[in-house]
Amino acid sequence: MTEGPRPGGWLQERLGGQIFGGFLNRNVPEETGLPHTLGSATLFLLVVQVVTGIVLAMNYAPSPEHAYDSVTYIMTQIVFGPVLRGLHHWGSSALVIVVGLHTLRVFVWGSYKAPRELTWMVGVALLLLVMAFAFTGYLLPWTQRSYWATVVGTKIVGTVPLIGSWLLQVVRGEADVGPVTLVRFYAIHVLLLPALLAPLVTLHLYLVYRHSIAPRPGNEAAARKTKRFYPDQLAEDLAVSLVVLLALFGLTWIWGVPTEVRADPTSTAYVPRPEWYFLFFFQLLKYFQGPIWEPIGVIVLPLAVILLLFVLPLVDRRLERRPRRRPYAMAAAGVAVAAVAGLTYFGVVQAPPGTRTAPAGSPQALVERGHEIYVAGKCQDCHVIKGEGVDFGPELTHVGSGYAADKLAALIHNPLSVNPQASMPAFDKLSDADLRALVAYLLTLK
Ligand code: HEC
Repeated sequence: MTEGPRPGGWLQERLGGQIFGGFLNRNVPEETGLPHTLGSATLFLLVVQVVTGIVLAMNYAPSPEHAYDSVTYIMTQIVFGPVLRGLHHWGSSALVIVVGLHTLRVFVWGSYKAPRELTWMVGVALLLLVMAFAFTGYLLPWTQRSYWATVVGTKIVGTVPLIGSWLLQVVRGEADVGPVTLVRFYAIHVLLLPALLAPLVTLHLYLVYRHSIAPRPGNEAAARKTKRFYPDQLAEDLAVSLVVLLALFGLTWIWGVPTEVRADPTSTAYVPRPEWYFLFFFQLLKYFQGPIWEPIGVIVLPLAVILLLFVLPLVDRRLERRPRRRPYAMAAAGVAVAAVAGLTYFGVVQAPPGTRTAPAGSPQALVERGHEIYVAGKCQDCHVIKGEGVDFGPELTHVGSGYAADKLAALIHNPLSVNPQASMPAFDKLSDADLRALVAYLLTLK
């Protein structure tokens, strides 16, 4: 046995086998480079989330009475509290981006092909886990925004035919998003998901080690030239991770975590808006309306995409990995990226602002308030404005040019008073101020 300066040599002797040293003491293709650091950057971000998450969890109370205050406590009383929360906040967004890029890189270079099928499938499971982390973590600060985004997000499972209401009950733990939902999401976020994450990450890394890094497609000859993982590639991985960490600190330094008001489950006028990484799905569902299309958009499509991702290496078994020789795969990737980017763009542009911008009391503030009431009153379940909504009742895109204010108010307050045959429900529970705001908004539609 030679006693060289091998990393992990001491441990290896005690533990036996190649457990630790083997991972470092390996060769990787010489051209392994920057694109390959996306995987290790993902791992690094997971570590950041775990470390900051543990400290946050130690100071957090998962109940509607205390959640918001405990976050305020973290932000004001804990040393480095704002930094910890900032890193965790921006880390989640960074994780979604880096995981997405890592998946795309592996897809484009065909690295999911034999013998690395299982590595890919475990990776898809990890991708879904990251999204589940993001979704459950979002509710925890119990702000107006996080609360209503969760109301809308969970409502989606309620539209599943037959078992929808049961599923909704399972996800929320009760009829509405409330204390049980919060505890349930917290337990999933800090117990269930990490318990799944740890073995899957380990398996993923083991498989990466076992099958080594896939050489760049079309350049298999160069793959025979290798370099050491430690220290060559590891140094590059650590450098990229350091850049990622500095970026997180930068974002935390410049923007912090946006302050939000405490959740108010009774304020029906709040316009819900999901976090940016779910916006594309939220936007997609706007195009899938009605009893037939809605379940297709909500269940069939996402399940089909997930299933397709899982079985991809079993279906696409050609060993050709060069992107230029895989036009269909490249076209599919292009369409998927364009669809997600486009839907996110439209979601950002079309989503109503979550907070009002105009000064209180100004005519513009009244109109914005009116729009919130229009959304909260579910008027778009029966009316279309500029292509948005369901055309059960008349289109309202130009309703402002055909009606006077008092006629509109009377019509909404009690449709029967204007038209004895009216089938629109009466909105006679609206306060006078809200009705005035709603009418002010409708009058801007010319
Ligand atoms: C359950 C479906 C439904 C909902 C919800 C609904 N409406 Fe209507 N609305 C109708 C129907 C149907 C008509 C056509 C007249 C009638 O039968 O009442 C109508 C007519 C109108 C009209 C007259 C339009 C025209 O050009 O003749 C306005 C304005 C209007 N609704 C506004 C609203 C507002 C504002 C809301 C939300 C607070 C709302 N509606 C919610 C079904 C609905």
